[in-house]
Amino acid sequence: MSSALSTSLKRTSMIKHVPRALSLSQHKLIPFLYRVISNYGTESTSTTPPTSATDHIQTKLPPAFGTKNAQRFREFNLEGRVIAVTGGGRGLGLSMAEALMEAGANVWCLDRLEKPDNEFNAAKRRTESSYGGSMHYARIDVRDKEHVDSILGEISSQNRRLDGIICSAGINHLHPAIGHSQKALEEVMAINYNGVFNSATAAAKQMFEHKCPGSILLVASMSGLIANKGMTSPVYNSSKAAVIQLGKCLAMEWGRHGIRVNSLSPGHIVTPMVEMVFEKNPSARATWEAENMLGRLASPEEFRGAALFALSDASSFMTGSNLIVDGGHTAW
Ligand SMILES: NC(=O)c1ccc[n+]([C@@H]2O[C@H](COP(=O)([O-])OP(=O)(O)OC[C@H]3O[C@@H](n4cnc5c(N)ncnc54)[C@H](O)[C@@H]3O)[C@@H](O)[C@H]2O)c1
Repeated sequence: MSSALSTSLKRTSMIKHVPRALSLSQHKLIPFLYRVISNYGTESTSTTPPTSATDHIQTKLPPAFGTKNAQRFREFNLEGRVIAVTGGGRGLGLSMAEALMEAGANVWCLDRLEKPDNEFNAAKRRTESSYGGSMHYARIDVRDKEHVDSILGEISSQNRRLDGIICSAGINHLHPAIGHSQKALEEVMAINYNGVFNSATAAAKQMFEHKCPGSILLVASMSGLIANKGMTSPVYNSSKAAVIQLGKCLAMEWGRHGIRVNSLSPGHIVTPMVEMVFEKNPSARATWEAENMLGRLASPEEFRGAALFALSDASSFMTGSNLIVDGGHTAW
């Protein structure tokens, strides 16, 4: 027997099994150790003091909700929750929506696309049959405040609750400040700022109405924190800075009512938005890859964990924060 194995057995108080383990041939050793480890802790000879029911961490977690996935990290469980995702027709929004559904939520993807990306139907089939959440699609333009209000009102009254929203609808516009068209300036601000403002306030109104504490995640960008090398987009960057600031102000207004508001600042992700940038400027990929500590761009799936964290009870003490997930781009 190797000395490493012997040390590990001692460390786990299983030293009494060593003589028997030494006498076994190699093909019997593994099943034997498996039985020893599986039984460990159930034996009356265990030296570990029993955990008191009052101080065990499980007793401090939120109560179990529903039956699926309730045992493991249940503060991440979204079963029965109702969540909207603007810009959920494709890209980052869709990827985050799928994650929420996988955690059990009933998710409404709201987007101006006539039909969501093909990936929407694949995600819906895959996740609804395996995880029990649901996924729906409705067309909206986040600039249309009345429509945003009415669609979130319909979703909430149908379900008698609204637990969260991710405001991910956004556009980019690459142009130097001098010569920037007024029309493009207004469009970027109307979608990236006014649209986020409309969606967040419409969602909060429903949370108040249904007395439903909730979580709101505004999708900003690391471009709201830095002048992004290789991307000349002064208006887009400022719209994202405004979103980060908006998150803090809304968190302050609604915190005492049980509504948390945070922003998410991703680094460069390969989505249809970014692929359009590469079409215009193919050298941007190499520039951006060189600009972060991991030396690569992100994929939308790498934001599933951040979305689930922000929208679930796992982040119950987080509000007014800006979560930066950028491969270290802004850290050097
Ligand atoms: N891709 C990146 O590198 C990156 C980095 C940081 C932040 N972001 C932000 O993430 C969010 C998602 O971007 P993405 O990369 O997935 O882009 P994307 O273009 O693939 O997705 C954006 C979605 O928003 C929708 N949308 C645009 N205008 C809308 C409107 N007026 N009403 C409703 N829906 C509208 C689009 O139809 C699209 O489905 C955006 O807010 C973007 O600024 C992206």
